[in-house]
Amino acid sequence: MTFQELPKVELHLHHEGAAPPELIKQLAFEKKVDLSGIFTDDGGYAFQNFTHFLQVYEAATSVLQTPEDFARLTTAILENSSAQGVVYCETFLSPDFCGGADVSAWREYLAAIQEAADQAESAHGIVMRGIVTPIRHFGPERAKAAALCAAETAGDWIVGLGMGGDETQGHQGDFAYAFDMAREAGLRLTTHAGEFGGPQSVWEAVNDLRVERIGHGVRAVEDPKLVQELIARQITLEVCPGSNVALGLYPAITAHPIATLRDAGVNVTVSTDDPPFFHTSLTQEYENLAQAFAWGADDFRVLNKTAANAAFCDEKTRERVL
Ligand code: ADE
Ligand code: ZN
Repeated sequence: MTFQELPKVELHLHHEGAAPPELIKQLAFEKKVDLSGIFTDDGGYAFQNFTHFLQVYEAATSVLQTPEDFARLTTAILENSSAQGVVYCETFLSPDFCGGADVSAWREYLAAIQEAADQAESAHGIVMRGIVTPIRHFGPERAKAAALCAAETAGDWIVGLGMGGDETQGHQGDFAYAFDMAREAGLRLTTHAGEFGGPQSVWEAVNDLRVERIGHGVRAVEDPKLVQELIARQITLEVCPGSNVALGLYPAITAHPIATLRDAGVNVTVSTDDPPFFHTSLTQEYENLAQAFAWGADDFRVLNKTAANAAFCDEKTRERVL
């Protein structure tokens, strides 16, 4: 079985960040928005560093305006993921980008996204669930509005709350109210930490937000006590090696700490984050890891089992798909 054919579980994929450049260009054309500055000559997204990446990301997202636009995006994402052997994925969805974190607008976007996801499930068998995503650099007040959207739509399909955005702004604990609201609504919790913030940011995620998964989390490797804490609490890392290399966190995949963390006993999983931004796919990630660390099919089966166990879906869905 090739790496492409291997059934995969992806826990960390940003809905907007998975937008094919061709779709964003088409929407820009339809809406008469000039986005020429955000693309490279060969058609990819152009950015110089993490801050610039977030700006380009938001510029691309500016043409995703209506529920129908998000439905088209959902169809494109799930076709691409399914072609990579993904059988189950959780995507980060931001109410801020879907009607400005207003609950009734959010419901309309969600209905369109869910309908597209249901069609993709019928056509390709791929199952998707949503994680509502406050954007950290939009601040704690907007995070509360996003968490309210999450709480109001919590259920079989909206399964979690997971903060993204610029981790260097403020502290994880500034968002505790939003996370508490989501927890009380029965949602499962994750947050970006230990990507552009160091180990302290991961400690805060664990202690102040009480998350059970962490987006990236790789800089935990810099603090041996923290590594032991992640193991003791059975916290799963949503590791995105290609993203980390593309954004300059590590000079090359061979310098990435995923193997060190795994070998220490941390629950690690592999995802793509924003695949077209980083010229990657889940199969490509597996091939890179196989080459860098001599991992084979059995290593990836274990990673996928870890991901299946850490998925936020209900047990019925886990048994049906994973
Ligand atoms: N949003 C999309 N990709 C992200 C990343 N790698 N870190 C933080 N926020 C993001
Ligand atoms: Zn991410």
